[in-house]
Amino acid sequence: MSTNGSSVATRYEVNLPIPPARMAGRVKFAVIGFGYWGPNIVRNLHNLPGAEITAVCDKNPVARKKAYKNYPGTYVTADVSEVINSPESDAVAIITPVWTHFELAKAALENGKHVFLEKPLTSSIEQAEILIELAERKHLKLMVDHTFLFTGAVKKIKELLQTGSLGNLYYYDSTRVNLGLFQHDINVIWDLAPHDLSIMDYLIEETPEALVATGQKHLNGLEDVAFITVYFSGKIIAHINVNWLSPVKVRTTLIGCEKKMLVWNDLEADEKIKVYDRGVDITNREGVYELLVNYRSGDMWAPQVEQVEALRQELAYFVDCIVNDRTPFNDGLAGLRVVKMLVAANRSLKKRGALVQL
Ligand SMILES: NC(=O)c1ccc[n+]([C@@H]2O[C@H](COP(=O)([O-])OP(=O)(O)OC[C@H]3O[C@@H](n4cnc5c(N)ncnc54)[C@H](O)[C@@H]3O)[C@@H](O)[C@H]2O)c1
Repeated sequence: MSTNGSSVATRYEVNLPIPPARMAGRVKFAVIGFGYWGPNIVRNLHNLPGAEITAVCDKNPVARKKAYKNYPGTYVTADVSEVINSPESDAVAIITPVWTHFELAKAALENGKHVFLEKPLTSSIEQAEILIELAERKHLKLMVDHTFLFTGAVKKIKELLQTGSLGNLYYYDSTRVNLGLFQHDINVIWDLAPHDLSIMDYLIEETPEALVATGQKHLNGLEDVAFITVYFSGKIIAHINVNWLSPVKVRTTLIGCEKKMLVWNDLEADEKIKVYDRGVDITNREGVYELLVNYRSGDMWAPQVEQVEALRQELAYFVDCIVNDRTPFNDGLAGLRVVKMLVAANRSLKKRGALVQL
């Protein structure tokens, strides 16, 4: 690591602790993949105190041209083995399609680099396990980009669940639909469901036991509409609707709890989360064989949600984990738990919704 210092403060810095790397030196990153999502990683690393970009690598000349133009002075290359082998970098951020994740991450870890890897971690459970073992053996950090865990909304929901103000969790029901972007290598479940599966993995403290997935292929031979139901221990149930063929974009999650119910609309600029003091109480009248159903309908409350760029928070956290030798909570194991559910969902899809044990 070099010992370079300050950078221009941005509004996203407001809620961040000063990364220790600012004092100790910057973590040097090579970024592989400058397609749709890669530029967001590069922009955030570029502006992050404690991080420095040593190279951007993309095999596509159009992407490389864009990187040169936006970051003059940054080393841009098509040669992935050059950046992975280079002693210049401490860490590699891999922002390429999922089928490339394993080979690139394995090579980076073997060359002593910490790895920030896009979601989903890998294409298979075996690949995820190999990366986890390799990172552990080499004492390197392996972190998967589960971006939503760093949003103000998810942090607030976690807080509300943990403090018990919502009561016991009954269900998680998410709709994540829009028109496109059609992927060529993965179906809509592998593209969009990692977001909800990682959020569920973070919020729900019970173990997922089994799942059912249904879906259909309409256009390019890959499922473009899908529905997943996950059964947890206890009575918690989760449902995810993912769709590339929706005329409108919807990002709405209902979280039903014993005491209160919550609606998270991620497309709302303000008031992303609304907590409803609504619910149902059912009692048995003594001596009478009929149920008494009471519907509660109280106030609605929109809690303050931290306005932060999640990716910046996440990358600052990764830098902090490297510098202070901490294990990120969104580590390889968290990535593996999501991959296990994705693999199970594909198996269930093939059997038109058969129950698959997790
Ligand atoms: N966290 C999020 O919210 C989020 C959002 C979008 C995408 N993603 C993830 O980011 C990853 C990339 O998605 P995308 O939409 O940016 O894909 P993309 O196809 O737009 O971009 C990928 C880029 O990687 C380059 N590339 C591929 N293999 C390479 C290799 N071996 N060496 C060098 N360059 C290589 C391609 O040329 C391309 O420019 C995926 O894993 C996706 O799931 C995450």
